[in-house]
Amino acid sequence: MKKPSDYIIFALDVDSMEKASHFARLLSGTVGMFKIGLELFIRTGPDIIKMIREISGAEIFLDLKLHDIPETVKKSVSVISGLDVRFTTLHASGGTKMLGAAAGASGNLDLLAVTVLTSTSASDLAETGHDKSINTESLVVMRAQLAKNAGCSGVVCSALEASMIRQRIGNDFYLVTPGIRPSWEVVKEDDQSRIMTPARAVSEGSDYLVIGRPISRASDPRASALRIADEIAAVL
Ligand code: C5P
Repeated sequence: MKKPSDYIIFALDVDSMEKASHFARLLSGTVGMFKIGLELFIRTGPDIIKMIREISGAEIFLDLKLHDIPETVKKSVSVISGLDVRFTTLHASGGTKMLGAAAGASGNLDLLAVTVLTSTSASDLAETGHDKSINTESLVVMRAQLAKNAGCSGVVCSALEASMIRQRIGNDFYLVTPGIRPSWEVVKEDDQSRIMTPARAVSEGSDYLVIGRPISRASDPRASALRIADEIAAVL
């Protein structure tokens, strides 16, 4: 059975094995998963996965946001599927052939599609050839549906989009949401603007919450993770 702490994916947004190991030890048992992004993975390679495995029983999310020709993505996913990680990401804009090739090679690995990056604005979409009449919300739903049809297990999306995607795409599809901010933990110089509290995000249908700075920059990161889990428990 899924525990409140299993909803928490801690974003290991650090640049060295030492810093990652510090957080993996500190947060062991208080979060369900650790997310390794491109910067850390490029620095450490698969050794980072081995290190986390030795320290913690938490699952691992390798956030590589793949996007290439189907054969290349298929081979890369096949390698990732041998690394003992739970989730990896790829861009839904790669289309059915790329997503389907990846799904065919994923084994026990769950593929999460990135629909539209939250940093992408309507003018960015127009500039890269999208019809001006397409709004970002319709594109998010269209790509989420494409990802589901191609065999992906879920999407990374804003918590503000979660209930809409859930309604349109249905259950049995993971919604993984960053931009989470507990009301009691203020992140200084925050670059996230479309935010939601952990409790509300889970109430709106998020299956997993990606949380970085509200935990990493807290005076007591472990206490912050435990408090977030309590907040989640209250709405389950
Ligand atoms: O909680 P915090 O804002 O620090 O979390 C940042 C993490 O969430 C980073 O790892 C970032 O890549 C990820 N993320 C995001 N916005 C998205 C998708 C992922 O902030 N749209």
